Amino acid sequence: MKKFFLKTLTLSLILLSFLGCSSNKKNNIESIPMKNKKYIVQENLKPSNLSGISDNQISDHWNLYVGYVNQVNKLNEELSELAANGQLNSLIYSDRRRQYGFEYNGMVLHEYYFGNLKNNVTKKESEEIYSAIKKNWGSFDNWAQDFINTGKTRGIGWAILYADPTTKDLINCFISEHQIGNIAGFMPILVMDVWEHAYMVDHKAGGRGDYINAFLNNVDWSVVEKRYKDLIDSKITKRF
Ligand SMILES: [Fe+2]
Repeated sequence: MKKFFLKTLTLSLILLSFLGCSSNKKNNIESIPMKNKKYIVQENLKPSNLSGISDNQISDHWNLYVGYVNQVNKLNEELSELAANGQLNSLIYSDRRRQYGFEYNGMVLHEYYFGNLKNNVTKKESEEIYSAIKKNWGSFDNWAQDFINTGKTRGIGWAILYADPTTKDLINCFISEHQIGNIAGFMPILVMDVWEHAYMVDHKAGGRGDYINAFLNNVDWSVVEKRYKDLIDSKITKRF
């Protein structure tokens, strides 16, 4: 009887152990992409001595960008820990997944934005981006007016001049927050932040129009040109 009991107990333990392992395998991932990825603040992109956008305004805004870099790193860390701890089906894991678009775009769009601002800029009408703008809008002024109006869209977000990599066509888009309205696969060529934090220090809450005019006076068109030429030179010719 004792022998039978021990045998049954052993078999039960083996079965429980097997079920436990199976369960862990289904709900636990020891390594997910970006587990050890650490983004760093792109210090070389920080502009200064701009016309109509003060260094104080840029510094204040820059700190928010740094916050997004930290948040992206923290988000990847948390997702890795949750995955490793078998919480793939938890509400918190689901919530963090939803945050990807907000935090990543918050980081990346700020890098495009600061990267296309520079002091003492000059416009060179012969650049390819100008030709493309004229081809799409009829004139540079038409495009600028359209971009300004895009930037004045009510709500917090971004105005972005996008290029379609397959057709090379250009389009002005308004992005709500950081993640709503981006077009998958399109390349940001010129990026303008129109959250109030981008101009509150210099222009107060009602000063978006003045800020947009100042922004356009500080666009580094050589950077915009490079982004556009990189896209033209890419081998992407079709989506499917
Ligand atoms: Fe911003």
